Amino acid sequence: MEIVYDVLVVLHLLGMAGILSGVLIHYTAKAAAAFAAMLHSAILQVITGLALTGIASAGLVDSDVNNTKIAVKLVVAVAVLVLALVLYRRRDLADRGLVAAVGGLTVVNVIIAVFW
Ligand code: HEM
Repeated sequence: MEIVYDVLVVLHLLGMAGILSGVLIHYTAKAAAAFAAMLHSAILQVITGLALTGIASAGLVDSDVNNTKIAVKLVVAVAVLVLALVLYRRRDLADRGLVAAVGGLTVVNVIIAVFW
């Protein structure tokens, strides 16, 4: 199960990179692909995060689970996902700070993941 967990961690990190790539694509190239990158990566983050938590909580790997930290990360990740979904469907809202919010909240979750 260790290998499955490690593969999920890799996907989790790529998901984080995918969201931030979407944000950068929006601010540099202004390409529509930015919204798909943000949405699909945000979905990936929630799925891989929950899978990692499940595997660790089941004691299948040697990794402690801090439920409070996970709960906060989940709330932030769902906020990112909702924002990404809104942006995907309503691209006209992109100039109202929603893309910056997606990027900012993603960085918040990275900081929580590392420092908490
Ligand atoms: C925008 C959303 C998210 C971002 C940017 C993010 C970011 C990260 C990062 C950078 C790490 C690696 C930390 C390290 O190795 O020190 C990590 C690990 C982890 N994340 Fe997330 N995360 C997100 C959402 C979630 C969600 C929703 C969950 C669970 C419901 C979750 C559960 C975990 C777990 C269990 C680990 C530990 C993996 C390990 O053993 O190293 N994450 N996350």
